[in-house]
Amino acid sequence: MIKTGFLTIISVVLTLANTVPVSASKRYNEPIKPIPADMKYDKQKVELGKKLFFDPRLSKSGWLSCNSCHNLAMGGDDNLPSSIGHQWQLGPINSPTVLNAKFNLAQFWDGRAKDLQEQAAGPIANPGEMASSHQLAVATLQSIPSYQSLFEQVYGVKKITINEVTDAIATFEETLVTPNSRFDQWLLGNEKAITQVEKEGYALFKVKGCVSCHNGVGVGGNTYQKFGLVKTYSKDEENLGRYNVTKQEADKYVFKVPLLRNIELTAPYFHDGSVWSLREAVNVMAEYQLGLKLSVPETEKIVAFLKTLTGKQPQIIYPVLPPETVKTPKPDRS
Ligand code: HEC
Ligand code: HEC
Repeated sequence: MIKTGFLTIISVVLTLANTVPVSASKRYNEPIKPIPADMKYDKQKVELGKKLFFDPRLSKSGWLSCNSCHNLAMGGDDNLPSSIGHQWQLGPINSPTVLNAKFNLAQFWDGRAKDLQEQAAGPIANPGEMASSHQLAVATLQSIPSYQSLFEQVYGVKKITINEVTDAIATFEETLVTPNSRFDQWLLGNEKAITQVEKEGYALFKVKGCVSCHNGVGVGGNTYQKFGLVKTYSKDEENLGRYNVTKQEADKYVFKVPLLRNIELTAPYFHDGSVWSLREAVNVMAEYQLGLKLSVPETEKIVAFLKTLTGKQPQIIYPVLPPETVKTPKPDRS
């Protein structure tokens, strides 16, 4: 009997510990959660990953780095309808931001990479993006003594493989979070962090149903949903979304719901980059996802709320990259 009572108490304590986050927020029942500010990382690995993120020598031309299309000075994307890759090729799809990407359930618009590490292997070898190969990228790094010693220090390897390269990049990307937005300050109990109009915008975001798809820490990123749920939107034959992965008819035009964190920094919007104004993007969503027409003041209020989601941008000290050697493969523009 005593034993059962004791276990019950333990389980009650555990349940409480699970429902109340350690950094208990005043508004922890809201469908949107604040970005945790205190994350711990392996500093050396992060520094190595940062170098790789900025190193254009991972591309065949020696010209494109991850930062070319995920510019950390511009919200972690390229602010183009679709990206420009090797030999000025125009990509088929808009580049999503790398900021807060760790909160996505999977990576890419169609979720075809399960995590950041798997994702990072993609662009290096994608002929339309960095157009290199894993072999060439690794040979380039291996030819640079100071990279060699960094990989040895961090991973204990003499021979670099693509796994260490993508692991370091992914670890750097995990640090690219944007806590402390005005909205998060409000969630954490600072009543004055957002204005009355912004609060009304958030209320509309919930009442109208936006929050059913855009919720959680990332304000999105945690489900796949059809674009054009109540009304056909896309006649885009090139980008079929989840269908690419599952080959299920029902998954045509189903995309990973984008994060709305820092949304004011990452125009143009949608996977096809077709909309430049946030106001218009909100109206498209209301019409095609919810079958609603918003009044002008309603749209303005929702936009005002969305702008409170801009957080503290990562403070990046531009890395100094080690010089190449005579053994380093030469840039190849072909
Ligand atoms: C030529 C432009 C370009 C380069 C260079 C590039 N990317 Fe991307 N990135 C894109 C595009 C476009 C997508 C979306 C592709 C898709 O979903 O099919 C993307 C998607 C991503 C995503 C997924 C984000 C999400 O919300 O799903 C991450 C993370 C990412 N890239 C990181 C990187 C890293 C790391 C590098 C360097 C190794 C890199 N990218 C290089 C254009 C680029
Ligand atoms: C049924 C799910 C669903 C609902 C409801 C919904 N959205 Fe979306 N939202 C999505 C999906 C999916 C996309 C990506 C569409 C695409 O580009 O293919 C998206 C994209 C967006 C974008 C563009 C993001 C970017 O980075 O390009 C904004 C802004 C947005 N939604 C705001 C809203 C607002 C405001 C509402 C309410 C009026 C809303 N959404 C309702 C699923 C939804």
